[in-house]
Amino acid sequence: MTGFEVLQAVDAEVSTCQRCELHFSRKIAVPGEGPANAKLMFIGEGPGFHENEKGRPFVGSAGAFLDELLASIGLKREEVFITNVVKCRPPANRDPQIEELHACSDFLEQQIQAINPKLIITLGRISMVRFLPNVKISEMHGQAVRVRGRLVIPMYHPAAALHQPSLRDTVISDFSQLPEWMVKAGNIPEMQPDVVFAENHKQRSEQLSLF
Ligand code: URA
Repeated sequence: MTGFEVLQAVDAEVSTCQRCELHFSRKIAVPGEGPANAKLMFIGEGPGFHENEKGRPFVGSAGAFLDELLASIGLKREEVFITNVVKCRPPANRDPQIEELHACSDFLEQQIQAINPKLIITLGRISMVRFLPNVKISEMHGQAVRVRGRLVIPMYHPAAALHQPSLRDTVISDFSQLPEWMVKAGNIPEMQPDVVFAENHKQRSEQLSLF
């Protein structure tokens, strides 16, 4: 099967999936969208109200900000793949539960394998922990880490940046580094997340001690 065919098969399966409780309350499942040859893949947490209505990821206010962030680095949403760790809306936008994350995990894995993106950008803590379970987003945001062969950059969720104006500039600045990470992508060695965390922590402590 081609990457495109795998994505189509995932879409079809997600749309009728009953692997977890979320199917009871969903209106339309949201598998994700974008080209099968996308170089960048963005992974959010789960569909919200508007996504559940339309069956498309990031189409509410967080999505409008994501579109702005993409435009700031010269990209359109049609050029990247956008999805979530869970494909159905958690009721009242609560965090997805562990069994829901597990139930949906295989869909995301198939999408990653089909697209084979150069960079995976996780949006928010919940999608970050899928790749980097032992780190803090406040320590790791904007840093590229190779995990199981994949280059992952954790970022704050655009919705968090909308609610906390202090994060807005951080997210804009982290996005501005993406083109550079794309160029460096091939040269970043595999590292254990705990090593990365320790190194990053040390680096920031050293930076702080300069003041
Ligand atoms: N927040 C997410 O994490 N994903 C969406 O698709 C929309 C909002």
